[in-house]
Amino acid sequence: MKNTKRILVTGAAGSIGSAFILKALEKNFSILGIDNFSNSHEKTIEAITSLYPDRFIFEELDISKRGEGLTSLLKRFQPGAILHLASLKSVAKSDEFSTLYWRNNLLGTINLIDSMSHTECKKILFSSSAAVYDQKSHNPISEDSHLDALSTYGKTKIAIEKLLTRLSQLNKIKAVILRYFNVIGTYKLNQLETKGDGSLISNIQNVIQEKEKTLEIYGNTFQTKDGTAERDFVHIADVIEVNFKAIEFLNGVATCSVFNVGTGTATSVLKMVATFEEVIGRKIGVQIKRPRDNELPSSCANIEKAKNELKWTPSKSLSQMCEDSCRIR
Ligand SMILES: NC(=O)c1ccc[n+]([C@@H]2O[C@H](COP(=O)([O-])OP(=O)(O)OC[C@H]3O[C@@H](n4cnc5c(N)ncnc54)[C@H](O)[C@@H]3O)[C@@H](O)[C@H]2O)c1
Repeated sequence: MKNTKRILVTGAAGSIGSAFILKALEKNFSILGIDNFSNSHEKTIEAITSLYPDRFIFEELDISKRGEGLTSLLKRFQPGAILHLASLKSVAKSDEFSTLYWRNNLLGTINLIDSMSHTECKKILFSSSAAVYDQKSHNPISEDSHLDALSTYGKTKIAIEKLLTRLSQLNKIKAVILRYFNVIGTYKLNQLETKGDGSLISNIQNVIQEKEKTLEIYGNTFQTKDGTAERDFVHIADVIEVNFKAIEFLNGVATCSVFNVGTGTATSVLKMVATFEEVIGRKIGVQIKRPRDNELPSSCANIEKAKNELKWTPSKSLSQMCEDSCRIR
């Protein structure tokens, strides 16, 4: 099998990793998945393995711990490219557990690249985040906007981006960096349980499932249409699709390129709540709290670069995102 059809996925049991893997296996790729289950469940991997026992291999491994395991895995599997998703991702917790985030995210990436350097595999696709952008960036935010993250999480992503950019300038690797905005929904087969992550969608789900009585909304006096904060939400199926486009791009001429992944539309918290209410046919109780520190009033992506260069356009509506989010957990 050509090694362009062999992909190593870090963070394989996570919500994006497992969805990507299912789609990749459908498309006849062979996948080696790695995860340490710090934010996911083993049963996700068991479900994928039972569907695709021949073309899916999994290894439980913590990439932030140095060891020979990762290098020998890479040597054996010989991937054509790596999709690097493994990361701790809670913006709030990243300041509380700052050194853990640096060790896990940055050191994990350094270990991965060190292992790559002992093999033929030079291509890496990295999942960065909208959290890298400066508070002063104007909507729609383009890739060349100034970077200055407010959170430790965002700062680890900036550091990794710089590392990948420098290594590609030195011709040691080829990299595509995808800056995801807010990923929601679920992929067709991906009705696998993921851990709640304190995000707006996970908090709305908790109210819908009556684990919480009301949804706490942080601030309603921002300079936005309805006063609540606005974010750019993108459906997981569109995110999976852009990853395949980016892998093709990596196989072509790219050295290091960065792309925003969003829809280009800013949706407020209240608009999101109203859309969920339409989908489930009942009200969602809300409670207004004071804004959290460093909360951006509004953030949405300029996605022209991904449209033009990756030939990718998001296709899912906000209602579809909410409907599909209700099919999970
Ligand atoms: N979901 C989003 O809205 C969003 C937005 C922006 C960026 N991202 C990025 O996309 C990537 C995937 O996000 P997700 O939503 O699937 O997150 P997730 O938490 O569901 O998945 C990440 C996976 O990585 C694993 N992991 C973490 N550290 C590891 C380590 N040291 N070794 C091995 N495995 C490790 C976790 O156990 C988890 O299964 C992350 O890098 C995240 O920062 C996600």
